[in-house]
Amino acid sequence: MSSSDCYMTAKDGSMGFQPMRPRLAVLASGSGTNLQAVLDQIAAGKLAADVAVVISNNSDSVALERARKAGIAAVHWSEKKAGSPVQFSSGLLELLQHHRIDLVVLAGYMKLVPHEVVRAFHGRIINIHPALLPKYGGPGFYGMRVHEAVIAAGEKQSGATVHFVDAEYDHGSVLMQREVPVLPDDTPETLRDRVLAVEHELLPAAIAKFAKEFWKQPGNQEKRQ
Ligand code: GRF
Repeated sequence: MSSSDCYMTAKDGSMGFQPMRPRLAVLASGSGTNLQAVLDQIAAGKLAADVAVVISNNSDSVALERARKAGIAAVHWSEKKAGSPVQFSSGLLELLQHHRIDLVVLAGYMKLVPHEVVRAFHGRIINIHPALLPKYGGPGFYGMRVHEAVIAAGEKQSGATVHFVDAEYDHGSVLMQREVPVLPDDTPETLRDRVLAVEHELLPAAIAKFAKEFWKQPGNQEKRQ
């Protein structure tokens, strides 16, 4: 028995001893292949978590489509839609609280998370980045630009990082990292594909690691809304 386990009511109403499944909010701006990897691992019974809501700043995001297909709440929420940065921030916070979110997962989310949300979810927001942070992170290092910079610098290795989110882009402490080789004939596209394949394993693994470690910390089980 580990302290990451606790008593929960099973579907049949009986009390059983089961690990806590974190409720996730996934924020994504684009194609959402990382979101899909998380959904697939959950559906396969390999990841004990539940995606409660998918939020995108982009109404056309394929990530929202993927959520709808999976029967998950899909919400388009942006500063433009909210009308102001303050309303955006308070609306986002309300959404996360409404869905009783334990962990916020940024999976290709192209915006900074508002300070109020970072503060309220301190230590409970993670981001996946397609490089070995702290290298090739921060403002300007997004999408294909990351892989172009890695190749231009003649790096022999790149990879993916899952890190905790603070108020700066790609800055918080590293939760998990995995390396991939950079091959002599790599283009930014071939490198992106190799890194992305690793991301699809790393993100579910990092969520599982968070889940295992989070509940062990004193007071965190009570944080559950
Ligand atoms: C990934 O490379 C991720 O590391 C970065 O944005 C990309 C999102 O890809 N932050 P997808 O939308 O999950 O396919």
